[in-house]
Amino acid sequence: MIEPVSYIKKLEGKSNAHLITFSDGRDYVVKYFRSGFEKTLPNEWIAYCIARFLDLPVPYALIVQIPEEFSKAIPEVELDEIKNSKFQFASLYVPETLSGHQVSSVSCIVNHETLAGIILFDYWLCNGDRTRKNILLLEEELNRFKLWIIDHAEAFGSYSWLVSELETLPQKIMKSSTHLFMSQFIMSEEEFNEQLEIIQRIPVLLLEEIVELIPDDWLVSKEDKKAIVGRLVNRRKKILPYLKHKFVKSIYRPLHQKNE
Ligand SMILES: Nc1ncnc2c1ncn2[C@@H]1O[C@H](COP(=O)(O)OP(=O)(O)OP(=O)(O)O)[C@@H](O)[C@H]1O
Ligand SMILES: [Mg+2]
Repeated sequence: MIEPVSYIKKLEGKSNAHLITFSDGRDYVVKYFRSGFEKTLPNEWIAYCIARFLDLPVPYALIVQIPEEFSKAIPEVELDEIKNSKFQFASLYVPETLSGHQVSSVSCIVNHETLAGIILFDYWLCNGDRTRKNILLLEEELNRFKLWIIDHAEAFGSYSWLVSELETLPQKIMKSSTHLFMSQFIMSEEEFNEQLEIIQRIPVLLLEEIVELIPDDWLVSKEDKKAIVGRLVNRRKKILPYLKHKFVKSIYRPLHQKNE
């Protein structure tokens, strides 16, 4: 397993994410377990694994174990929290990116074939936090960007969901200017159908394995794990087809008709 080598800085945002160099020579964005935000790390882990399986542009990530001595030297990390949780979520830092807020002129998203999948993934996992800060844009050529997705701390409705709340996750169209922005670059509405089929083909066993790998000290109970898999299976079958249809009808089509 990679080990932390040097601390760089705290990153902007409410999760207290830290930039740390590891023994593989690369920099990772590390999130610690925090009380009050208990589901941040499980959400990040589940969303990451699913996004990777779907071939969505999510930075490589892994669960790391940072020694207590190293963590103690980070001012914003609470001692109690280091003691209670040995494992952290680390996501590879993508250098030289801009957030969706910092870019005004985009002529092309080079990985545009992933965009319909990102939107359906957000609806499937109930990620209501696809703000312009939670995409990263890397300019590969003038006004041509590769898009990355980050920050799935608020999947399943929130960073502190309870099992009872999973029953009533939203089934409505979300207001997201980032989804609107991405929709401009989706070539055909058929892409939504293709992505839905891929989501529906993910083996249930894989979803079960993903939740099984959550470290015990992230306090996700057996009941929580069962409920997550149950909701994912139910939503992709019963709710996602309807949300896909609504999204295409109320957001994708009007945007493209206007642009014709
Ligand atoms: N893999 C990454 N590569 C480059 N920058 C990143 C990466 N992950 C996070 N960042 C930067 O760190 C910031 C905070 O990370 P993230 O969005 O995951 O946590 P957050 O604190 O929950 O954010 P917020 O609550 O502000 O949305 C991001 O807005 C982004 O600028
Ligand atoms: Mg964020």
